[in-house]
Amino acid sequence: MKPETLLYEGKAKQLFLTEDPAIVRVRYKDAATAFNGEKKATLAGKGVLNNRISAFFFQLLREQGIANHFIKEISPIEQWVKKVAIIPLEVVVRNVAAGSLSKRLGLTEGSPLRHPVIELYLKDDALGDPLINEDHISVLEIATVAQLTEMKGTALKVNEVLRNFLAQKNILLVDFKLEFGVDDSGDVMLADEISPDTCRFWDMATGNRMDKDRFRRDLGNVIEAYEEIWNRLGGREDV
Ligand code: CDP
Repeated sequence: MKPETLLYEGKAKQLFLTEDPAIVRVRYKDAATAFNGEKKATLAGKGVLNNRISAFFFQLLREQGIANHFIKEISPIEQWVKKVAIIPLEVVVRNVAAGSLSKRLGLTEGSPLRHPVIELYLKDDALGDPLINEDHISVLEIATVAQLTEMKGTALKVNEVLRNFLAQKNILLVDFKLEFGVDDSGDVMLADEISPDTCRFWDMATGNRMDKDRFRRDLGNVIEAYEEIWNRLGGREDV
């Protein structure tokens, strides 16, 4: 067997080349980090849950006509995805004020927003992922106007699909972060992951948090909350 080539290692995932140059293998790690890597821990079982939950959401989105990089799960902690060049932007969609939005605008956490709010952050650890606007994106030549329009449109569609689906499971979709890539044909495609690491999920009845805020804010029972999300989704364990 050929040695595995590690293409990239991030805080929560590793990316490996496969024999097919158009496919990469993503391995979800048990590592948890917050506050730009300042807070770190290993949470046994997180890799399995995020791999399964992310695969579930990508399949749901595909069924609803939203193209994305997901191909298939190949093990409890791994999935194949289409190789794309990630656009260094974090596209955040919010339905309810929380986290940095509450701080920035002085809104009480939990205040519903009159309409979804999209924010763009530059993916740059050294700069602390600053909030940026479309002029910044243009001068930095990070994405074209057409690509940005497409990413924002897709982000709002993802919000509609996930928000409605999750509401049936008694889960409030407070906010989430998406990343996009450009494939070999030059098309923009939804990529990265969609999991309790990248979304805020609150129980609709109790407001109980079932996401990475349990880790960020030392609320305890992090893995139990991720398991609760997986159970409510009612997904199948294909591998
Ligand atoms: O999480 P924090 O309060 O630092 O930031 P936020 O801007 O309120 O985060 C908005 C949403 O994007 C939350 O669901 C975060 O989990 C997610 N996010 C992420 O997945 N990765 C980041 N680097 C920043 C935010």
